[in-house]
Amino acid sequence: MLSSLQFKTSLQFSVLFIPFLVPFFIILLHTPNSTLASLITTLPGNDTDRLALLAIKSQITHDPLGFFSSWNDSVHFCNWKGVTCGHLHQRVITLNLSNYNLVGSLSPHMGNLSFLRGINLQQNYFHGEIPPEVGRLYRLMYLNFSNNSFSGEIPVNLSGCSSLIMIRLGFNNLIGKIPSQLGSLQKLERFQLHYNHLRGQLPDSLGNLSSIRSFSMSVNGFEGTIPESLGRLKTLNFLGFGLNQLSGTIPHSLFNLSFISVFTLPFNQLHGNLPSNLGFTLPNLQVFNIGHNRFTGPLPQSLSNASNLLELDINSSNFTGKVKIDFGGLPSLWSLVLAANQLGNGEADDLSFLDSLTKCRDLRLLDLSENGFGGKLPHSIGNLSTQLVQLRLGGNQLSGSIPIEIENLVNLTELTMSKNNLSGSIHVIGNLPMLRRLDLSENAFSVHIPSSIGNITQFMLYTLKRTT
Ligand SMILES: *[C@@H]1O[C@H](CO)[C@@H](O)[C@H](O)[C@H]1NC(C)=O
Ligand SMILES: *[C@@H]1O[C@H](CO)[C@@H](O)[C@H](O)[C@H]1NC(C)=O
Ligand SMILES: *[C@@H]1O[C@H](CO)[C@@H](O)[C@H](O)[C@H]1NC(C)=O
Ligand SMILES: *[C@@H]1O[C@H](CO)[C@@H](O)[C@H](O)[C@H]1NC(C)=O
Ligand SMILES: *[C@@H]1O[C@H](CO)[C@@H](O)[C@H](O)[C@H]1NC(C)=O
Ligand SMILES: *[C@@H]1O[C@H](CO)[C@@H](O)[C@H](O)[C@H]1NC(C)=O
Ligand SMILES: *[C@@H]1O[C@H](CO)[C@@H](O)[C@H](O)[C@H]1NC(C)=O
Ligand SMILES: *[C@@H]1O[C@H](CO)[C@@H](O)[C@H](O)[C@H]1NC(C)=O
Ligand SMILES: *[C@@H]1O[C@H](CO)[C@@H](O)[C@H](O)[C@H]1NC(C)=O
Ligand SMILES: *[C@@H]1O[C@H](CO)[C@@H](O)[C@H](O)[C@H]1NC(C)=O
Repeated sequence: MLSSLQFKTSLQFSVLFIPFLVPFFIILLHTPNSTLASLITTLPGNDTDRLALLAIKSQITHDPLGFFSSWNDSVHFCNWKGVTCGHLHQRVITLNLSNYNLVGSLSPHMGNLSFLRGINLQQNYFHGEIPPEVGRLYRLMYLNFSNNSFSGEIPVNLSGCSSLIMIRLGFNNLIGKIPSQLGSLQKLERFQLHYNHLRGQLPDSLGNLSSIRSFSMSVNGFEGTIPESLGRLKTLNFLGFGLNQLSGTIPHSLFNLSFISVFTLPFNQLHGNLPSNLGFTLPNLQVFNIGHNRFTGPLPQSLSNASNLLELDINSSNFTGKVKIDFGGLPSLWSLVLAANQLGNGEADDLSFLDSLTKCRDLRLLDLSENGFGGKLPHSIGNLSTQLVQLRLGGNQLSGSIPIEIENLVNLTELTMSKNNLSGSIHVIGNLPMLRRLDLSENAFSVHIPSSIGNITQFMLYTLKRTT
């Protein structure tokens, strides 16, 4: 119970900092002191919060780590574990129940925590539907329900949470479509739905999320085309649509979003060519992973100018032609996966791009397998980064011998060159100390290599060396 002195103090602060309380306190000011006490005990709000918290607790069926042991009436609810209240008005502003292996459903009473700004239920076993009452929390900015077992659909009423900055619903069992009404969330910056069972079209209204920076929608059943409207989202930085059933072409407007740094949509059914100026229109690109689709045409030479690139993966598509990218301007590249396309023309200079790739001093993975690369392995292969761990060249039309310089690649653990026309001695391979996986099968080497030599252990490697 507050004394009237404390009350006046808190009134001053209310006026300064929490205008929404003012009308209520002004009424109290004109109330005789004798009735003040009884009024305070019946303040709407704080007991509502207590009851809502108790309702949330009551639907927890298993609390293995004793999270809720402090949630009892001998302690003010603002001091209950995971609860934070506003200093002045004693209303719950954040609720953090994350990482306690809690089992249960989420009480609709949570919609009564009307001052709530943040709720974190991550990494528990909440099941059942997300109560639509959540939509009453118009002050809510951060909602994190990821890594639970929520089922049912995303409530349409979530659009009522107009202050939302972050929605994290990843790793649940949600079904249905994204409600188009969520396009009204003007403050939303991060929208994470990955690893659910969501389906249907991505609504056009997503193009109305004018503050959005990150879409993480991968591993769902989204189908249809990527809405053209997303091209309006000038602040978009992260686009993750992988492992869905998206089809059609990538709207060219997306390639104009100059803040994009992560662009990943592998494992869909997208087709079409990439714009030739891609590397100029997406200057902040770090991760470009569009593998396992049906893209065609050349790999844009302008990728030479995407100087922040870390990962480029176009695995298993239908890209054709020579690789004309100058990798010399991509100093941070660590993963280059061009496998399973129709790159190279079976010509002598097909691998000339390896010269520029030697400037990528952090390169760890280079996969050129299952393409049409011809010619000899250039000596510059030995000048690739010594960080290189995996080198895959199988299934091409490479001829000639393995350059002695390859022994510079001292950190190689995997070297696959099967299904080429390579010849000569494999002696040099014996000097790669870390090698665990070596596949030289289906070539024309001068020693007999059993076709089963898929896995070479260090021991087998040295044996091989002695006998050759
Ligand atoms: C309700 O608010 C009053 C005044 O702020 C406070 O004295 C009282 O402890 C609160 N009751 C609860 C249950 O929080
Ligand atoms: C209530 O919570 C407090 C703080 O955790 C604890 O010390 C006390 O034992 C609890 N009381 C009951 C009856 O569980
Ligand atoms: C709180 O929420 C529940 C369920 O939405 C509702 O039945 C109840 O009337 C609300 N109000 C209070 C004060 O608990
Ligand atoms: C959902 O929103 C609608 C429209 O604002 C409202 O009428 C309804 O009461 C809300 N449902 C709940 C459970 O809050
Ligand atoms: C969520 O679950 C996934 C899969 O079980 C796990 O990889 C990830 O680390 C979890 N994330 C968090 C933040 O607990
Ligand atoms: C996007 O917002 C505008 C303006 O609020 C509205 O007219 C339009 O219908 C919205 N588009 C979609 C697809 O929701
Ligand atoms: C991309 O931006 C350029 C320059 O602002 C503009 O001319 C072009 O029409 C845009 N393309 C698309 C598809 O939005
Ligand atoms: C694009 O990259 C190439 C190769 O690194 C370089 O020669 C060229 O000057 C760059 N162009 C621009 C406009 O930066
Ligand atoms: C490899 O690097 C060395 C040292 O920088 C250089 O002398 C040599 O010419 C390079 N070889 C090739 C084939 O690029
Ligand atoms: C290589 O090892 C993997 C896993 O250890 C095994 O599944 C595979 O069959 C092996 N391949 C060969 C060719 O021995």
